[in-house]
Amino acid sequence: MTRQIIKKADSVLGLPTGDTPIGMYERLVGFYGQGILDFSPVTTFNLDEYYGLPIEHQKSFHRYMGKRLFSKVNIQRDNTYVPNGMTDSVKEECNQYEAEIKAHGGIDLMVLGIGVNGHIGFNEPGTPWDSCTRLVKLTEETRKREFVGLKDPPKKAITMGIKTIMRARKILLLVSGEEKAEAIKKTLEGPITNQVPSSILQLHPNLQIVLDEASAKSLSELSEVS
Ligand code: F6R
Repeated sequence: MTRQIIKKADSVLGLPTGDTPIGMYERLVGFYGQGILDFSPVTTFNLDEYYGLPIEHQKSFHRYMGKRLFSKVNIQRDNTYVPNGMTDSVKEECNQYEAEIKAHGGIDLMVLGIGVNGHIGFNEPGTPWDSCTRLVKLTEETRKREFVGLKDPPKKAITMGIKTIMRARKILLLVSGEEKAEAIKKTLEGPITNQVPSSILQLHPNLQIVLDEASAKSLSELSEVS
């Protein structure tokens, strides 16, 4: 990510939320503080946002990004795009999101995390490969995991589609923790099937994967992704 911004000052980045990228955001903020990175010409598009969850809610991805990155670096807020989960007109919001990505020349570097079921963004098993930004239903597993103790967690989210993700010029997949070991094995060594949405990444021409030891433990060898 740092190299991408140094190489192309006005990079267009696709960004994830969740636990995995927290360290990455901390490093980026650190490099900004040291004067290594300048975010003023950078544009970002987040992968997803819960539908019907107010922006100020502690679980909203707007809030996550504000707290971890946007308020800590000199990025221009107008250049930060996160799907509007409070929109009255979902279709328009989704089409507009795709149009903005296109108008910015597409995503240079898309950073992804992965779910234990192989989801990327909120593209759950069964997602068609040609999907674009749209409203999706959250699985019960995701709702329970992400909203422990909340009475009425959101049922839906707006997410970039598989096609949106695969169109990025470069993809960086970050994976950590033993609970992801099976998912990453299926992603890299299993068949390409939309029952494991992340398996499509095998076909991306410019994919880089960063794994910790725990998540890599089920891999039969360090796979070469052709
Ligand atoms: C988040 C997102 C999700 C997460 C995935 C892993 O914007 O799109 O696909 O990347 O659920 O989440 P963590 O990192 O919390 O395990």
